[in-house]
Amino acid sequence: MERYLLRDDIWWVGAIDWDVRDFHGYETPRGTTYNAYLIMDDKVALVDGCRDGFGPEMLARVRGCCGIRPVDYMVINHIEPDHSGAIPWLLDNLRPEKVFCSKRAKEALAFMISPEWVKQWDLQVVGTGDELSLGHRTLQFIDAPMLHWPDSMFTYVKESKTLLPNDAFGQHLAHSRRFADEVDQGDLMEEASKYYANILMPFGSPIAKMIDKIAEMGLEIEAIGPSHGAIWRTPEGIAKIIESYRAWSHFEAPERVALFYDTMWHATERMTMAIEDGVAQEGVECGVYRLTANPRSEMARQVLQCKAFLVGSPTLNQAMFPTVGGFLTYIKGLKPKKRIAGSYGSYGWGGGACKQVDAELRALGLDVLDPLECRYMPQMDDLEACHELGRTIARRVKGERA
Ligand code: FEO
Repeated sequence: MERYLLRDDIWWVGAIDWDVRDFHGYETPRGTTYNAYLIMDDKVALVDGCRDGFGPEMLARVRGCCGIRPVDYMVINHIEPDHSGAIPWLLDNLRPEKVFCSKRAKEALAFMISPEWVKQWDLQVVGTGDELSLGHRTLQFIDAPMLHWPDSMFTYVKESKTLLPNDAFGQHLAHSRRFADEVDQGDLMEEASKYYANILMPFGSPIAKMIDKIAEMGLEIEAIGPSHGAIWRTPEGIAKIIESYRAWSHFEAPERVALFYDTMWHATERMTMAIEDGVAQEGVECGVYRLTANPRSEMARQVLQCKAFLVGSPTLNQAMFPTVGGFLTYIKGLKPKKRIAGSYGSYGWGGGACKQVDAELRALGLDVLDPLECRYMPQMDDLEACHELGRTIARRVKGERA
């Protein structure tokens, strides 16, 4: 089975999941990989596991690298089941001398697997400041809490200047190539930004601190091997992904507007088109996304990639449309910041949707514009008001006060 040399006898020994399309509710049209790394030295160390069911594929790659040599150490950087699901099976097969993980990982694995299992493997707790010598190379551990679970940890291979940060800097991208410089750059950054939006957006502050901490520690980084997707190994690629994370963690975004809407009888849709026309008239890019027609994980990426967004909903039974409710529930968990936002929509008699959407946007702490409603079908003056709303939000995006 093919395995890939990352550098200095550090091998990619992960598994490719070509078919996964729903990753705990995150749509993954390009599949994913579960990356793990085998470091061959006087001692052999395996960093990270994979999802249940992918253990045999990974084990075949491990054995392809080290033959019958024992795997002496296993490092568990993160315990979410896409990385830990196969670990009991892998440990039974590899029988490493020692297993290392963070304090939080050890505590949680007692719940996730069992207290007896944790005791059986006598998990060794490591964290920032701890090192493990493999002979010629040293593993350095860095606690990374909330990137993106409390247990998350990075492993840094000092002499090889290689960072293995588990979920950070990843992408859900199954590919026959392993390295970021070998894949289509548009696909790569689309998946990297979608991954950040859906997995890491709520943790902007810890991510910004971690980027600062890496700089303070003076870590030289010549390769980044995330736990999903392509491996970053060129100076340009590493600089691009770190700079992207810095910008995303500070909620920087292009001068763009996104309109998320749904519609019953095309009234809210007509309002949407008039708003888009107003945004475009100001020379600002505008994306239009009907919520029934677009995957939720892509909508999250659009929130990351715009300075302002509006949410349009018809009123159904005195409430917002169900797809709009689902979108807002998801976005609320991702905690976007530094965005201009607003609501609009059509109603027949009692109304209710705009008020609910407006309240949700205000609860997020965004810079919220007044709602814009119309009754039944938008008339000429309604459409003019929509057009003006588009121009107003576009001017705000450009930094002009309306
Ligand atoms: Fe890839 Fe948090 O698991």
